Amino acid sequence: MSSYRAPRGTRDLLPESRAALSRLEGIARSLAVRYGYREMEIPLFEQVSVFERGIGPATDVVEKELFRLTPRTEDSESWALRPEATAGIVRAYVQHGMQTWPQPVKLTVVGSMFRYDRPQAGRYRQFWQWDAETIGDPGPAVDAEVIEMGRRFYAEAGVADVQVLLNSIGDSACRPAYLARLKSYFASHEAELPELERRRLETNPLRLLDSKDPTMTAVVSAAPKISECLCDACEAHFAAVRAHLDAVGVPYRLEPTLVRGLDYYARTAFEYYRRGAEGQQQALGGGGRYDGLVELLGGRPTQAIGFALGLDRVMLALDEAGAQPAREAPPLAVVVGADPADTVSRLRVASLLRGEGLSVRAELAQRKLGRQLETASKEHAHFAVILGDELAEGNVQLKDLEAGTQRLVPLADLAHELARAAKSHHHG
Ligand code: HAM
Repeated sequence: MSSYRAPRGTRDLLPESRAALSRLEGIARSLAVRYGYREMEIPLFEQVSVFERGIGPATDVVEKELFRLTPRTEDSESWALRPEATAGIVRAYVQHGMQTWPQPVKLTVVGSMFRYDRPQAGRYRQFWQWDAETIGDPGPAVDAEVIEMGRRFYAEAGVADVQVLLNSIGDSACRPAYLARLKSYFASHEAELPELERRRLETNPLRLLDSKDPTMTAVVSAAPKISECLCDACEAHFAAVRAHLDAVGVPYRLEPTLVRGLDYYARTAFEYYRRGAEGQQQALGGGGRYDGLVELLGGRPTQAIGFALGLDRVMLALDEAGAQPAREAPPLAVVVGADPADTVSRLRVASLLRGEGLSVRAELAQRKLGRQLETASKEHAHFAVILGDELAEGNVQLKDLEAGTQRLVPLADLAHELARAAKSHHHG
């Protein structure tokens, strides 16, 4: 066996897993359409400064987890693989003048993100997110709409018992006073702080609430809560978000220590967890309002909110719950033949059927007919198209492998016959 391996923290999605991911992507795209989001693509890498400025230089994601690409020459730009999509989407919003479009602009991206984190269950260096952003809407109603859309995703994906953890983390009016309080609180516990957290006390005290260090649990839980320090405007916004959630029947749990790992957030912050799995690294998804980000990346002040749902973690949750694997559709028909050597006819007939939009495998191994049919049954093909002497008169035998019946069909009608059967049996 070769000693080559997929890089640490990445994994190959073999066809069955890819089918599971495709199913989730399908649900995401269907929801995006239903909720009025337009899908777009952004590059897999951006200038490092988009992330440093957008996400914040003193966040785990930027400080420790950014996949930096080595510049080719000394004077070339520094790039990094995208650790998330929001900063890139907002960069695109500004770059393409989307401020002049009818607001809000609702955009969605489905794809891989990259974080150079220590790999473990549910934490990968390449992982998939469904990201959805509503840019140009101050809320509060849209906040509830976004949170509700995420919940619907888990419901449609079949993940049971997902709960919403909700908080407001204030805005530029009330956060500074809170941060000062937080800083003096943690300063009075400085001896208990690990090295990294002690450094962050100066640069980004809010991050300490989100610390992954298990020794921090007690200090964090006794820290002052942002919810006790909200200004009137943030308080009113938060109350209205909750009222809208109540009205659409979305249950949530208020979580005063929820601050999120990225710096761009203001006001509404939320995460999705499976009940009983609220520990670090177990979030199925998360998001929030980022009213300052557009301006930070060079645009006009524009309020926005969005989320990203971790599709790998949803796949894991489904596996753990013993969910049925996503189905890969078998071919509708396999083209087999009495003359093992006549691969030309089999390829020609298969090609003809594929041209009609049918899912067909051509048996190209030169094996006896019996073996060819055996393989076709094993892969659950519905039909075998058998080429024999009748081909000279333009006919083939169409064998229904499920029903065990067989009849002669003119080659000219074959595609039509198969298409009709496919329709009534929901074949792909
Ligand atoms: P985030 O909380 O960093 O938010 O990531 C969202 C979700 O992505 C997480 O809840 C988790 O399910 C998944 N995830 C994150 N890191 C990993 C990893 N290493 N391996 C597997 N899954 C992972 C954001 O990314 C924000 N951009 C969300 C957002 C959009 N906020 C506003 N708009």
